[in-house]
Amino acid sequence: MTDFAVELKALSVNLGGQTVLDRVDLSVNPGEYLAILGPNGGGKSTLLKVILGLHRPSSGEAQVLGQSPRQARRKVGYVPQQSAFDLDFPIRVSEVVRMGRLDSFRVGGFNQDDRLAVDEALDRVELRDLSLAPVGALSGGEVQRVLIARALARRPQLLLLDEPTSSLDERIGHSIWDLFDELSQEMTVMIVSHDMGAVARSVGSVACLNQQLHMHPSKELTSEILEAAYGCPIDLLAHGHPHRVLADHEGT
Ligand SMILES: Nc1ncnc2c1ncn2[C@@H]1O[C@H](COP(=O)(O)OP(=O)(O)OP(=O)(O)O)[C@@H](O)[C@H]1O
Ligand SMILES: [Mg+2]
Repeated sequence: MTDFAVELKALSVNLGGQTVLDRVDLSVNPGEYLAILGPNGGGKSTLLKVILGLHRPSSGEAQVLGQSPRQARRKVGYVPQQSAFDLDFPIRVSEVVRMGRLDSFRVGGFNQDDRLAVDEALDRVELRDLSLAPVGALSGGEVQRVLIARALARRPQLLLLDEPTSSLDERIGHSIWDLFDELSQEMTVMIVSHDMGAVARSVGSVACLNQQLHMHPSKELTSEILEAAYGCPIDLLAHGHPHRVLADHEGT
C-alpha cells in the first residue's frame, strides 16, 4: 500500500505496435495539483487512461489511491478530451450528470444520495437551472461544464481533466479555472491543458510528457531545462512573478 494518490513505476504502454509511454515514473501526492504538458501525440490522454484502468501497461506498475487502477475507478472523476460526446442523443443534463454515479460495481436504481450528489455537482458548475434541458440544446461550453459535473457527481478523491477548457471562451474559461483551483483544495487534481496562462497561475507542479515523462516542481522550471532536455518548448516570462508559458509547438 502506497501513500501516493498516483504511483507509476517504469510504466510502458504500446498501442498499435508503437511505444506511446516509455518507462514513465510518476508519484503524485494526495492533494497535489499537477499539470501535464506535451506535444500532440505525446501520450497525455493515454496516461490518464492508464490511471483509469482503460489501458493496460505492457510493462511496469500503476497504483491509484493505493489500489489497482480498475479498483480505484469509483473514486476517480474523469473529464475526457472533448469530441466523442454525441449531442444528438436525447438525454437531459441531469441524466448525463447522473451517469457519473454509475460504476461497474453498482446494481439497482439511483437513491436519494445519488440525487443529492447530482444536484451538488450541477451547483458547482452553475448549471442547476439547466438540469432538465436536453444536452443537444446546450452550447459547447455548457456541455463541457456538464461533463465536469458528471465527473464531480462521483465525489472523487482524484480528478482527471483532459483539456477541459479547450472549447471555452476566455470569460467562462477563467471561472472554470477558479473552480479547478477550489477543487484542488479538496482533492488531487491532474489536468492536461494547453492554457499556459492558467496553468502558470494555478497548478502546483508540472509534468512534461513526450513518451517519456519529466517532473518539474514549479519553482525549478526554466525554458532552458525544458527545451534542451525534454523537447517540450516552454518560455519563462516575468510579470512581477515567474510565469510559465508554452511556446508554439512548431514541428513537434
Ligand atoms: N487505441 C489506440 N490504438 C493505437 N494507437 C493509439 C491509441 N490511442 C492512442 N494512440 C496513439 O498513441 C499516441 C498518443 O496518443 P494520445 O492521445 O495519448 O496523445 P495526446 O498527448 O493526448 O495528444 P493530443 O494533445 O493530441 O490530445 C498517438 O500517436 C496516438 O495515435
Ligand atoms: Mg489527448
